[in-house]
Amino acid sequence: MGDRGLLSRAEALRLEPPTWCHACHALLYAPCSGRLFGRVPLRFALLMQLRFDGRLGFPGGFVDLRDGSLEAGLLRELLEELGPGATGLEVGPEEHAGARPGSSDEPRPGQRLVAHLYVKQLQPEQLRDIEEGAARAPDHGLEVLGLVRVPLHTLWDGSGLPEFLQQRFVGSARDQLLDALHRLNLVPGHELERALSLARR
Ligand code: APR
Ligand code: MG
Ligand code: MG
Repeated sequence: MGDRGLLSRAEALRLEPPTWCHACHALLYAPCSGRLFGRVPLRFALLMQLRFDGRLGFPGGFVDLRDGSLEAGLLRELLEELGPGATGLEVGPEEHAGARPGSSDEPRPGQRLVAHLYVKQLQPEQLRDIEEGAARAPDHGLEVLGLVRVPLHTLWDGSGLPEFLQQRFVGSARDQLLDALHRLNLVPGHELERALSLARR
């Protein structure tokens, strides 16, 4: 097991059904040159979704290992939840950013979940295609109520990322988000610390 209690893809694959079931989700982001109010640099656009249960999470879902690879299952879920903009998306083992065993919910009594996260940087146009196609996704209005961009900035009044972090998240999605923001330096270290301390109040 690596740091932060995360399993590698290979380690996680040793957790076999029927005791273990696997879910794969994707954190998709792209550089963004926009400025909020013409002055606050946005730097990146990072996608999450509002789910049917009212919580925030990443697109993806349960993967049946008998259907092939984790990544094939993830791509099927992404097509269902993101729609036509996800058609050309390629997500491979190299994008695996760690798996959390036993995280949160038990799918069925006696079963345990291992939650994999994949992280993929897109071109700004690819991300926009996904956003534009999202309302045509088979799961739109059903499992997925909408895609959202995560506010990565903290404004003068403490709003932005600190407020966002106080929403309800599914499973370990909040930890997955914070991990990725830190590891990929999508939010500079001191800003992330500040956002976290404001979110704790
Ligand atoms: N970290 C950890 N667990 C997560 C995360 C995450 N980031 N996101 C979701 N989960 C959990 C969910 O709570 C769920 O138990 O992983 C499981 C599968 O994720 P979903 O995206 O909800 O699965 P999906 O296959 O898209 O949706 C099927 O319909 O069968 C019902 O309630 C069931 O949530 C399930 C949905
Ligand atoms: Mg799904
Ligand atoms: Mg899902």
